[in-house]
Amino acid sequence: MTQSLRQLIAGNWKMHGTTAFASDLAGSLADKASAAGNNGVDMLLCPPSPLIAAVRGAIGESGIALGGQDCHAAEQGAHTGDISATMLADAGCSYVIVGHSERRADHAEDDAVVKAKAAAAQASNLVPVICIGETLAEREAGRAVEVVTGQLRGSVPEGASASNIVIAYEPVWAIGTGRVPTLADIAEVHDAVRAALADIAGDAEKVRILYGGSVKPENAAEILAVGNVNGALVGGASLKADDFWGIAEAAA
Ligand code: PGA
Repeated sequence: MTQSLRQLIAGNWKMHGTTAFASDLAGSLADKASAAGNNGVDMLLCPPSPLIAAVRGAIGESGIALGGQDCHAAEQGAHTGDISATMLADAGCSYVIVGHSERRADHAEDDAVVKAKAAAAQASNLVPVICIGETLAEREAGRAVEVVTGQLRGSVPEGASASNIVIAYEPVWAIGTGRVPTLADIAEVHDAVRAALADIAGDAEKVRILYGGSVKPENAAEILAVGNVNGALVGGASLKADDFWGIAEAAA
């Protein structure tokens, strides 16, 4: 049933790129997307903030969406170095990643912080892509489902529904490592997330749940065919147009 949801293929560029790189990469993806027409897949690019304007110019009317990689929970104020959801919306974004494991680790963001950021995103009409995922130690202890559903409950704002959240399951140990859970393990977590969503989000069966962690063109088709996987959050492979496009094609 949930496989009929439109897949979302999101590129998380992390801290990579220059203006020239961003224009080239986004421009080349826009050309491919425009040539392919409406191929049934939603595409999203999340560049570093200084490159948002360049990506916005390059994606033009291709239908590719633009997103930030993080936002502050406040709308404005004395928060040097931070960016608000309102600013991202003003810059042309429609999504923002919140709670990525690198932010949870590098900036000590806990579920409450992630939830506040997600709520701020919604208040600015951005869809937060709320990231959750277990560490290797937690998986080896058999606690993956418990940890992930716990993060979900703590990080999703009240009033969430299919139109105003996307969930991304990203096992921390699979990010940037080339290691991927078995398809059965991905299915187990995505099924558990879907079930848990029933208590905390409206239209829970329609909330898109992305998988992230070492998604490549080579493994995308089999991962995207798993039940309750409704797209991918892609790091490394989103930095090459052919690789990212290959993943989008696997979703089509
Ligand atoms: P990766 O990163 O595709 O390079 O593993 C995914 C992510 O961190 O979003």
